[in-house]
Amino acid sequence: MNEERIVIRRAGPLHGEVAIPGAKNSVLKLMAAGLLADGCFTLTNVPDIADVTIMADLLNAIGLRSERLDPHTLRMVNDGSIIPVAPYELVERIRASINVLGPLLGRFGCVSLSLPGGDDFGSRPIDMHLSGLQAMGATFEMRHGVVEASVSTPDSRLHGAEIVLDFPSVGATENILTAAVHAKGTTVIDHAAREPEIADLCNFLVEMGAEIEGVGSSRLVIHGVEPGTLHATDHRVVTDRIQAATYLAAVAVSGGEVVLRGARAEHMEMLLRRLADMGVTVLPVGDGGGESGDGLAVWASGRLRSIDFATLPYPGIATDYKPLLVTMLTVADGVGIVTENLYPGRFRYVEELQRLGADIRADGHHAVVRGVSRLSGAPVRAPDIRAGAALVVAGLAADGETSLTDVHHIDRGYDDLVGRLTALGADIERVDSA
Ligand code: UD1
Repeated sequence: MNEERIVIRRAGPLHGEVAIPGAKNSVLKLMAAGLLADGCFTLTNVPDIADVTIMADLLNAIGLRSERLDPHTLRMVNDGSIIPVAPYELVERIRASINVLGPLLGRFGCVSLSLPGGDDFGSRPIDMHLSGLQAMGATFEMRHGVVEASVSTPDSRLHGAEIVLDFPSVGATENILTAAVHAKGTTVIDHAAREPEIADLCNFLVEMGAEIEGVGSSRLVIHGVEPGTLHATDHRVVTDRIQAATYLAAVAVSGGEVVLRGARAEHMEMLLRRLADMGVTVLPVGDGGGESGDGLAVWASGRLRSIDFATLPYPGIATDYKPLLVTMLTVADGVGIVTENLYPGRFRYVEELQRLGADIRADGHHAVVRGVSRLSGAPVRAPDIRAGAALVVAGLAADGETSLTDVHHIDRGYDDLVGRLTALGADIERVDSA
C-alpha cells in the first residue's frame, strides 16, 4: 500500500479563520468513561482523527458500541453487555487504551488488559496508575504482557483512599479518578494533574452523576457513588489546545493574521506569554459567551525572537507544544535553550529538522537551537503526532519543497491539518507516495 505524503512549499503570510477541533487527549478519555454507565451518550465537537476510530474499535470489542452520526458527533451505546477484557491487537495501537483500566476496575472489580502501545517516545511506565489503584484495594498480576487486575472484597468494590502522586501524571490521575467514582467512600488525589482535558473528564463524570470536588485543581476529592447510579449523558469535547498551538506556530513562522475559532486563552496562558516574548501577538476575539469568547486572533510579521523554555506539567509549557516551539526557534533571531522535563527521548525529530537546515544540538533532556535565517526544503519523516505537525510547520518556513512521509502519525491526532492550512493560504497538499 502506498501511503500518502504531505508536500509543503513556502507561501508567505497566512490569512483567514480556522475552526479548532475538539481535543484528542480529552475525547479518548471521555469515550473510555462511557464504560461507567449504561445508556446512550452523545459526544459533540469530536475531532475527525484516526485515534477516535481506534479507541472506538477497542471499546466495541469490550462491549461499548459507537457510531459517528457525522464526522464530529459520536453516539456511544452501553447496553450493559461489557466484557472487561482488552485484547492486545487493539490495545497496542493506542496509548490511551490504558484509560479503560479505571472505569472497568471500579465498576466490575476485575479487568484483563494488555500493556498499551501508542506513540513510541521514551519509556512510559504505569507504576503510578497501579500503586494508586492498589491503595484503593486492587491487586495486580502481570502475566505474559497482560495486567490481570482484581478487587478481592466480597462486593468487588474498591474503597476510597488518600493518594499522593509522585508526579502529576495525566494518565494516572485519570485512571484513579474514573475508578474512584464507584469506590466505597471518599478518594483524595493530591498532586493530581490539572490539564484542561482532565477538567473536561471531571465535568463529564459530574454530568453522569459523579461527586467530585476540586475540578481543575491539583487536589481532587471524589465521593464514590453506588454502582448503577451513574447515567449516560451528552457532552461537548473541550477544544484542542495542541491543535490550536499548531496554527499559532504556523502563523508565527509564515507571518499573517488568523482567527482561531474556539481556541481558549485560559487553557494556553503560559504558551501565549512565551509567544509574546517571541514577537507573536495573540488576543481574544468576540464575546461569544464562552470563557474566552469566540477564540483567539494571532498576528505575526518579521523575524521571531529566540527564547529559552522548559516543559512542565500544566499549567507549564506542555511537552506536546515543544516540537512546535523548537521549530519556531530554528528560524528565530538568536539562540534558544530547551529543557525537556517529561520525556528524555523526545528530541528524535531534531534529526529531521536538521535535514531542513536547522542548527540544533540535542543531548539528553536539553537542546540548543541557533536560529538560521531560512530553512531549506527536503524529504523528511514524521516520527510521531506532534513532531509530524511541527515538520509541516517547518515546511511552511522552508525554501523549496518539503516532502513529509509517515503522515499516518499526523492523522492520529490532527483533524484535516492540510485542508485547514490550505484554507489559510498555505501551499500544501497530500499526494500519493508512488
Ligand atoms: C498524556 C498525553 C500526552 C502528553 C502527556 C504529558 C494522552 C493520550 N497523552 O500522556 O500527549 O504528552 O500526557 O502531558 O492524553 N510516568 C511514570 N509512571 C506512571 C505514569 C507516568 O513514570 O505511572 C511518567 C511518564 O513516563 C512520563 C511522565 O510521567 O515521563 C508523564 O506521563 P503522563 O502525564 O502520565 O502522560 P500520559 O498520560 O502518558
